[in-house]
Amino acid sequence: MADMDPKKLFIRTYGCQMNVYDSERMAEAMGSKGYVEVGSPEEADMILLNTCHIREKAAEKVYSELGRFKDLKDAKPDLKIGVAGCVAQAEGEEIMRRQPLVDLVVGPQTYHRLPDMVAAVEAGERPVDTDFPVEDKFEVLKNRPLARRAPAAFLTVQEGCDKFCAFCVVPYTRGAEVSRPPERILREAQELVERGVREITLLGQNVNAYHGQGDGGDWTLARLIWALNDIDGLERIRFTTSHPNDMSDDLIAAHGECAKLMPYLHLPVQSGSDRILKRMNRKHTAEEYLRLIDRIRAARPDIMLSGDFIVGFPEETDQDFEDTLSLIRAVGYGSAFSFKYSSRPGTPAAERPLVDDVVADERLQRLQALLNDQAAAALEGMVGREVGVLFEKSGRLPGQMVGKSDYLHAVHVSAPDSGPNAGDIAVGDLRRVRITARAPNSLAGELI
Ligand code: SAH
Ligand code: SF4
Ligand code: F3S
Repeated sequence: MADMDPKKLFIRTYGCQMNVYDSERMAEAMGSKGYVEVGSPEEADMILLNTCHIREKAAEKVYSELGRFKDLKDAKPDLKIGVAGCVAQAEGEEIMRRQPLVDLVVGPQTYHRLPDMVAAVEAGERPVDTDFPVEDKFEVLKNRPLARRAPAAFLTVQEGCDKFCAFCVVPYTRGAEVSRPPERILREAQELVERGVREITLLGQNVNAYHGQGDGGDWTLARLIWALNDIDGLERIRFTTSHPNDMSDDLIAAHGECAKLMPYLHLPVQSGSDRILKRMNRKHTAEEYLRLIDRIRAARPDIMLSGDFIVGFPEETDQDFEDTLSLIRAVGYGSAFSFKYSSRPGTPAAERPLVDDVVADERLQRLQALLNDQAAAALEGMVGREVGVLFEKSGRLPGQMVGKSDYLHAVHVSAPDSGPNAGDIAVGDLRRVRITARAPNSLAGELI
């Protein structure tokens, strides 16, 4: 085997951070089969699309992408093509019917079986695996190579969702809420730190609903964060995505007290209209969300808030939309994601009358204009301040380094002429930086 060229794997990742994490784990699983990752589908012996089902456009993109691989497969008949992720879970073997060049389909809960599935493909089969198995995929995968890692990493602690928002496919594609045991998470975090990681973002579809069973009984997310806080060499902790109804007192308090927990919180509200929130099955009011924000800001006054919004949810009126704008003005977001409602088959809202598309587009533009203004104001407010920056890579200019601030803004620090110390920044350094200017989507600064 030693004289054989390693087989080449290309993975393209769509969707959320959890898919990014899963793609890393799939690459590691395939590493055990002798595959190395490459940067383009043209070089690959195997292509994996790790897909997202959240909106129609995301799901349809998979099929146009697959269509483009036809020439590659014609030129290289041994090329294997796999579909993983949430479209795989939602559509299963239907994917192979629609696109016969697909060799395997694997859902988010079974990708630890990929090596066996690839062996089956080599034996002429076309495996489809969308089980929700009892074994823990992360335990099966744990003997992975200890390669050096980038300074910021994701770590899945909770998966699935029991909330069933009326518009959302995630409870169907990711299944019921499951929390990983705390000791396994802490071990994985320790290993990441040994591989050069200095910032960990804890991931879950409802990460703040985390309830692991471990040493000393029940673990909340706050307890887990406090345990991570004790790991030497780990400098920063973040978590995403949270649901307002699971923002418990201990987690709010941690934002004020836990030194390594960063002052940034993604807390989606979707709408500012109580009528729409009710129809979305979000189970809280706009007022309750605003009071929650007050409590979080009381614990951590400088916290940067982020959110998700859906416009054009079925039966959304002009007044409902105005209520959403009012809520956004009342909160003041540092960044946010906003989407036009996309009807998803099988979800409760899919049965309901749609808002006129032109109206929905107009609302999306107005909402995004407001959110963009707020994001610009947040950037502007950083100028003159001192922040921590974790440097992740070199910039486009010679001697320039780019990192993320405590508040998750991209920060460029230039060397060597901007200051005596700027030349010696290394990837993975966490340094104090004074912000000197802002660009449309990032900041510039100098080392203190
Ligand atoms: N678990 C997270 C987010 C899951 S999906 C949460 O509860 O907030 C990420 C975002 O996609 C959602 O917050 C929502 O804003 C958006 N989204 C989900 N389903 C959608 C749909 N059918 N149409 C448009 N946007 C959607
Ligand atoms: Fe989807 Fe709602 Fe669950 Fe978030 S909380 S994943 S939006 S069902
Ligand atoms: Fe998409 Fe699945 Fe994530 S639907 S947003 S990849 S959980």
